[in-house]
Amino acid sequence: MDIKIIKTENKKSKPQGALGFGKYFSDHMFIMEYEDGKWGNARIQPYQPLTLDPSSSVLHYAQGIFEGAKAYKDKNGKIRLFRLMDNLNRMCDSAERLCMPVFDKQFVYDAIKQLVLLEEEWIPSDEGTAMYIRPTMIATEAALGVHASKTYTFFVIVGPVGAYYANGLKPVKLLVEEHYVRAAKGGTGGNKVIGNYAASMKAGELAKAEGYDQAMWLDAKYHRYVEEVGAMNIFFVINGVVYTPELDGSILPGITRRSAIQILKEKHIKVRECKVDIRKVAEAAENGTLTEVFGTGTAAVISPVGQFGYQGKDYVVNGGEMGEISKMLYDKLTGIQSGKYQDKYSWVDIIKE
Ligand code: PLP
Ligand code: COI
Repeated sequence: MDIKIIKTENKKSKPQGALGFGKYFSDHMFIMEYEDGKWGNARIQPYQPLTLDPSSSVLHYAQGIFEGAKAYKDKNGKIRLFRLMDNLNRMCDSAERLCMPVFDKQFVYDAIKQLVLLEEEWIPSDEGTAMYIRPTMIATEAALGVHASKTYTFFVIVGPVGAYYANGLKPVKLLVEEHYVRAAKGGTGGNKVIGNYAASMKAGELAKAEGYDQAMWLDAKYHRYVEEVGAMNIFFVINGVVYTPELDGSILPGITRRSAIQILKEKHIKVRECKVDIRKVAEAAENGTLTEVFGTGTAAVISPVGQFGYQGKDYVVNGGEMGEISKMLYDKLTGIQSGKYQDKYSWVDIIKE
């Protein structure tokens, strides 16, 4: 399939000052449609609103999925994509879970590469910034019956981003959510589906109202085992061992999580993917053996956690400061992404020399 390119005649002005996250979008987008059992009409076109029938299934039954990836530009103008094929693999897993069509991953990879290169001037190069890439697929069939849609739209929008959390690398405060759950076994927690995020908002807002940044989720059955955080996977360092919840279907298999585990193992730091009991974490915080907590995510990168609230009590981690392991991971990961360190893992695709 060829990609038609329709260039904009009205380029937007670039943002000045702090970028924040997800506020600015570039001049063009990639889009294609699925109809009669196949994808077609692939094009890069000016960034613009979608036209949707008000009865489109995505609006009523949340048959929609998305991904988040990043492109980086270094001071010499080299542009790198980080593990984008992993995102597209995960997106196809999400598609299968929601009875949506998969797509030719290499075709979409190349389309995104083309879009990123066209929007090159939108990629920021300051430390801690990147171009965020948001592939999305939605069900567009105009029908209110609950069934898998027969038509879909796939699109990719991109834009410059800085830190996900308003305070940048300053450790975040999390509130352990004991009542609401994000995902249960057999549900869609292990996939990047839009409904997961709608279901998570209540607890996120409650946490914010109490002065925390986000909720930390527990498992749906026992309300005892840590799952993840709003937009990141979570790690705990206890007695020098790094613990992270095992992937058991209700947690998103994070690409940053997987990268962090690989870096840790290579540094001969012990990593355990297992059930993480929040009571044991609180105990470890109390007896001083919990030395670090951090989250991992494309948007969040490596986000230190300086405090968490559980059962009405607040636990401060590492004096509220970013710990050594988190710093090492942040440096290594962003170093590989920005080209400061050699990429011996083949995670990076240099798309412009
Ligand atoms: N968990 C959730 C719920 C997320 O939304 C994200 C972000 O994509 C992550 C974890 C981290 O995944 P990744 O490292 O692939 O970005
Ligand atoms: C990402 O890290 O790319 C995400 O998708 C998180 C997002 C929900 C803000």
